[in-house]
Amino acid sequence: MYIDIAKEKFNKLKKEYKTKDILILGIESSCDDTSIAIVKNGRDIISMSTSSQIDIHNKFGGVVPEVASRNHLLSIDGVLDDCLEKANLKLQQIDAIAVTYGAGLVGSLMVGVNYAKALAFALEIPLIAVNHIKGHISANYLTHKELKPPFISLIVSGGHTALVKVNNYVKNTLIGSTIDDAVGECYDKVAKVMGLGYPGGVVIDKKSHDGENTIQFINHEIMPNTFDFSFSGVKTTVINYLHKLNQKGEEINVENVCTSFQTQVMNEVVEKTIKACKKFKEKKLVVGGGVSANSYLREQLISEGKENKIEVFFPEISLTGDNGAMIASEGYFQLISGEGLSDIDLTAEPNINLKVVRRKEKF
Ligand code: KG4
Ligand code: ZN
Repeated sequence: MYIDIAKEKFNKLKKEYKTKDILILGIESSCDDTSIAIVKNGRDIISMSTSSQIDIHNKFGGVVPEVASRNHLLSIDGVLDDCLEKANLKLQQIDAIAVTYGAGLVGSLMVGVNYAKALAFALEIPLIAVNHIKGHISANYLTHKELKPPFISLIVSGGHTALVKVNNYVKNTLIGSTIDDAVGECYDKVAKVMGLGYPGGVVIDKKSHDGENTIQFINHEIMPNTFDFSFSGVKTTVINYLHKLNQKGEEINVENVCTSFQTQVMNEVVEKTIKACKKFKEKKLVVGGGVSANSYLREQLISEGKENKIEVFFPEISLTGDNGAMIASEGYFQLISGEGLSDIDLTAEPNINLKVVRRKEKF
């Protein structure tokens, strides 16, 4: 039986990891990037290959799920070949396969999950199921070689906005999350209405350098006295503002809209994040997800961190978005903690959140 062989190898690797290098192949296909990487000991990227679908979805103004899964299927073989070639390694030298099984688009996830299952089965090596959000946290282990839990983590992406207390490599407590849109989703929708293309986060970020914070979009604290977020209200306010000016035929100062939107949204995120660090008396803050590339967020968290003696960590920019390396890294830390081993019946789970005990925090 596959699982008996996998279990035996998994337990052997778990015992050997202090004396032997472990190579994990990580597969990420939860949204519109097909990315595969080989990572050594959870910390060093040996090689990575990514096929982006941005140009394909740009013309639709957002990701079209059916188109995304078809393109994952078309590109995944080539991505794997390229990754192995760059590493100058053969599949037989890989110790375990880690794959994102959720959260994400079900069709896209299924491509990666089935591919990973076939590889693990054929190679008779362990298959490790990885939660995408945890992968974003682990991107930091690749950038900061000495970083270890515990810490507070802020995950900001196109699909998630969450504050998490990371107790050790595998145990987390969710302390707050968005009740509606994710922050990146909000950036993308506002950008779409302004005709700035998809994904819009990086464009708004760039344009905000040339504008001023002159338009008030948020006039009260969002979700006061909790660590939860809500972004659909501000998104609607910005979109209504844009429609109103359009109807009146008035000119829109795109740069000022970008700066005002970004400053006000990010100030809310920064304030809650610093409050969470203080409340849980954590001196380390680890940020992850596509939106962690944002220049204003980085600047503000670093400056607030300094003021409050909190050390702030971000992944290098190339590892902020979805990538196979963060999945391989997370897979490694699950392996050495004895968690995440999966059988061949692993399925895609589009709606999983963190496997955590939910604590409703008030401050
Ligand atoms: O983590 P990610 O690649 O995919 C998800 O898991 O969702 O995040 C993508 C999101 C998009 O919404 C994109 O607009 C946003 O990250 N993003 C940014 C920036 N770069 C990417 N948002 C704000 N500022 C940026 N510089
Ligand atoms: Zn992501």
